[in-house]
Amino acid sequence: MPALERYPLTLRINGRDHQMELEAWVTLLDLLRERLHLTGSKKGCDHGQCGACTVLVDGRRINSCMTLAVMQNGREITTIEGLAEGDTLHPVQQAFVDNDAFQCGYCTPGQICSAVGPIKEGNAKTAAEVRELMSGNVCRCGAYPQIRKAVCAAAGIEDGIKDDNNAVHPVVPGTVPA
Ligand code: FES
Ligand code: FES
Repeated sequence: MPALERYPLTLRINGRDHQMELEAWVTLLDLLRERLHLTGSKKGCDHGQCGACTVLVDGRRINSCMTLAVMQNGREITTIEGLAEGDTLHPVQQAFVDNDAFQCGYCTPGQICSAVGPIKEGNAKTAAEVRELMSGNVCRCGAYPQIRKAVCAAAGIEDGIKDDNNAVHPVVPGTVPA
Protein backbone atom coordinates (compact mmCIF):
# COMPACT_ATOMS: atom_id res chain seq x y z
CA MET A 1 0.00 0.00 0.00
CA PRO A 2 1.48 3.43 -0.94
CA ALA A 3 2.39 5.75 1.95
CA LEU A 4 -0.24 8.38 2.71
CA GLU A 5 0.72 11.79 1.44
CA ARG A 6 1.42 14.28 4.22
CA TYR A 7 1.54 18.04 4.12
CA PRO A 8 3.72 20.41 6.15
CA LEU A 9 1.77 22.30 8.77
CA THR A 10 2.76 25.01 11.23
CA LEU A 11 0.40 26.03 13.99
CA ARG A 12 0.79 28.06 17.13
CA ILE A 13 -1.37 26.35 19.72
CA ASN A 14 -1.88 27.88 23.17
CA GLY A 15 1.27 29.94 22.74
CA ARG A 16 3.45 27.08 21.56
CA ASP A 17 4.68 26.50 18.01
CA HIS A 18 4.00 23.13 16.44
CA GLN A 19 5.48 21.95 13.19
CA MET A 20 4.41 18.65 11.70
CA GLU A 21 3.47 16.80 8.58
CA LEU A 22 -0.12 15.73 8.42
CA GLU A 23 -2.53 13.87 6.17
CA ALA A 24 -4.93 16.24 4.44
CA TRP A 25 -8.04 14.58 5.85
CA VAL A 26 -7.29 15.14 9.56
CA THR A 27 -9.69 17.62 11.15
CA LEU A 28 -8.43 20.27 13.52
CA LEU A 29 -10.40 18.58 16.32
CA ASP A 30 -8.77 15.20 15.68
CA LEU A 31 -5.35 16.79 15.48
CA LEU A 32 -5.89 18.48 18.86
CA ARG A 33 -7.40 15.49 20.61
CA GLU A 34 -5.82 12.45 19.03
CA ARG A 35 -2.35 13.64 18.06
CA LEU A 36 -1.57 16.48 20.47
CA HIS A 37 -3.58 15.07 23.40
CA LEU A 38 -5.38 18.35 24.03
CA THR A 39 -8.58 16.61 25.00
CA GLY A 40 -10.34 19.63 26.48
CA SER A 41 -12.11 20.26 23.17
CA LYS A 42 -14.87 17.68 22.95
CA LYS A 43 -16.28 15.66 20.09
CA GLY A 44 -20.04 15.79 20.47
CA CYS A 45 -21.59 15.40 17.03
CA ASP A 46 -18.54 15.65 14.73
CA HIS A 47 -20.55 17.52 12.14
CA GLY A 48 -20.98 21.09 13.22
CA GLN A 49 -24.20 20.88 15.19
CA CYS A 50 -23.32 21.01 18.88
CA GLY A 51 -20.38 23.39 19.44
CA ALA A 52 -18.61 21.05 21.90
CA CYS A 53 -15.46 21.29 19.77
CA THR A 54 -15.32 25.11 19.66
CA VAL A 55 -11.83 26.63 19.70
CA LEU A 56 -10.49 30.06 18.77
CA VAL A 57 -8.56 30.52 15.53
CA ASP A 58 -6.84 33.90 15.42
CA GLY A 59 -9.31 34.93 18.14
CA ARG A 60 -12.45 33.89 16.23
CA ARG A 61 -14.47 30.89 17.33
CA ILE A 62 -14.77 27.94 15.04
CA ASN A 63 -16.14 24.41 15.19
CA SER A 64 -12.89 22.47 15.03
CA CYS A 65 -14.66 19.34 13.76
CA MET A 66 -15.65 21.24 10.62
CA THR A 67 -12.23 22.33 9.41
CA LEU A 68 -9.25 20.38 8.19
CA ALA A 69 -6.13 21.11 10.17
CA VAL A 70 -4.11 21.86 7.01
CA MET A 71 -6.59 24.64 6.19
CA GLN A 72 -5.44 26.47 9.32
CA ASN A 73 -1.76 26.46 8.43
CA GLY A 74 0.07 29.42 10.00
CA ARG A 75 -2.76 30.32 12.35
CA GLU A 76 -2.94 30.76 16.08
CA ILE A 77 -5.20 28.31 17.87
CA THR A 78 -6.47 28.72 21.41
CA THR A 79 -8.19 25.83 23.14
CA ILE A 80 -9.71 25.64 26.58
CA GLU A 81 -6.29 24.50 27.86
CA GLY A 82 -4.79 27.82 26.77
CA LEU A 83 -7.20 30.27 28.42
CA ALA A 84 -6.01 30.35 32.02
CA GLU A 85 -2.88 32.25 33.05
CA GLY A 86 -1.12 29.75 35.27
CA ASP A 87 -3.38 29.15 38.26
CA THR A 88 -5.57 32.14 37.41
CA LEU A 89 -8.66 31.21 35.47
CA HIS A 90 -9.76 33.24 32.46
CA PRO A 91 -12.62 35.58 33.51
CA VAL A 92 -15.11 33.50 31.51
CA GLN A 93 -13.94 30.31 33.20
CA GLN A 94 -14.25 32.01 36.58
CA ALA A 95 -17.74 33.25 35.72
CA PHE A 96 -18.82 29.69 34.85
CA VAL A 97 -17.56 28.52 38.25
CA ASP A 98 -19.17 31.43 40.09
CA ASN A 99 -22.53 30.90 38.36
CA ASP A 100 -22.60 27.11 38.52
CA ALA A 101 -22.90 27.08 34.73
CA PHE A 102 -22.44 23.36 34.11
CA GLN A 103 -23.64 19.98 35.19
CA CYS A 104 -21.78 17.11 33.47
CA GLY A 105 -19.32 19.60 31.96
CA TYR A 106 -19.11 17.97 28.54
CA CYS A 107 -20.22 21.07 26.65
CA THR A 108 -18.37 23.47 28.95
CA PRO A 109 -15.02 23.88 27.13
CA GLY A 110 -16.91 24.68 23.93
CA GLN A 111 -19.30 27.02 25.74
CA ILE A 112 -16.42 28.93 27.30
CA CYS A 113 -14.40 29.23 24.09
CA SER A 114 -17.57 30.25 22.30
CA ALA A 115 -18.17 33.03 24.83
CA VAL A 116 -14.61 34.36 24.81
CA GLY A 117 -14.65 35.35 21.12
CA PRO A 118 -17.76 37.57 20.98
CA ILE A 119 -17.05 39.12 24.38
CA LYS A 120 -13.59 40.14 23.21
CA GLU A 121 -15.00 41.51 19.97
CA GLY A 122 -17.63 43.47 21.93
CA ASN A 123 -20.45 41.73 20.06
CA ALA A 124 -22.37 40.66 23.15
CA LYS A 125 -24.18 43.72 24.52
CA THR A 126 -27.45 42.38 25.89
CA ALA A 127 -28.65 39.14 27.43
CA ALA A 128 -30.71 38.51 24.29
CA GLU A 129 -27.59 38.89 22.14
CA VAL A 130 -25.72 36.52 24.43
CA ARG A 131 -28.46 33.93 23.91
CA GLU A 132 -28.30 34.41 20.16
CA LEU A 133 -24.49 34.36 19.98
CA MET A 134 -24.34 31.21 22.11
CA SER A 135 -27.13 29.43 20.25
CA GLY A 136 -24.69 27.18 18.38
CA ASN A 137 -23.57 25.56 21.63
CA VAL A 138 -25.83 22.78 22.80
CA CYS A 139 -26.00 21.77 26.46
CA ARG A 140 -27.61 18.39 26.88
CA CYS A 141 -27.92 18.99 30.63
CA GLY A 142 -29.97 22.12 29.99
CA ALA A 143 -27.75 24.44 32.03
CA TYR A 144 -28.67 27.29 29.68
CA PRO A 145 -29.93 29.82 32.27
CA GLN A 146 -26.73 29.54 34.29
CA ILE A 147 -24.58 29.60 31.15
CA ARG A 148 -26.28 32.77 29.97
CA LYS A 149 -25.85 34.26 33.44
CA ALA A 150 -22.15 33.41 33.47
CA VAL A 151 -21.53 34.86 30.01
CA CYS A 152 -23.45 38.02 30.92
CA ALA A 153 -21.41 38.35 34.10
CA ALA A 154 -18.13 37.93 32.21
CA ALA A 155 -19.25 40.46 29.61
CA GLY A 156 -20.47 42.95 32.23
CA ILE A 157 -24.02 42.76 30.88
CA GLU A 158 -27.18 43.04 32.92
CA ASP A 159 -28.81 39.63 32.85
CA GLY A 160 -32.51 39.66 32.07
CA ILE A 161 -35.04 40.18 29.32
CA LYS A 162 -36.25 43.65 28.34
CA ASP A 163 -39.98 44.26 27.92
CA ASP A 164 -41.52 46.75 25.46
CA ASN A 165 -40.85 49.58 27.94
CA ASN A 166 -37.18 48.66 28.22
CA ALA A 167 -37.63 47.40 31.77
CA VAL A 168 -35.32 44.46 32.49
CA HIS A 169 -36.89 41.41 34.07
CA PRO A 170 -34.86 38.55 35.55
CA VAL A 171 -35.05 35.30 33.65
CA VAL A 172 -36.66 32.54 35.68
CA PRO A 173 -34.81 29.27 34.99
CA GLY A 174 -36.92 26.84 33.03
CA THR A 175 -39.25 29.45 31.58
CA VAL A 176 -37.15 31.01 28.83
CA PRO A 177 -35.11 29.04 26.34
CA ALA A 178 -31.59 30.40 26.33
FE1 FES B 1 -18.04 19.88 16.42
FE2 FES B 1 -20.34 19.03 17.45
S1 FES B 1 -18.37 18.15 17.64
S2 FES B 1 -19.96 20.88 16.37
FE1 FES C 1 -23.72 18.67 30.48
FE2 FES C 1 -23.74 20.99 29.16
S1 FES C 1 -23.23 20.66 31.25
S2 FES C 1 -23.94 19.01 28.36
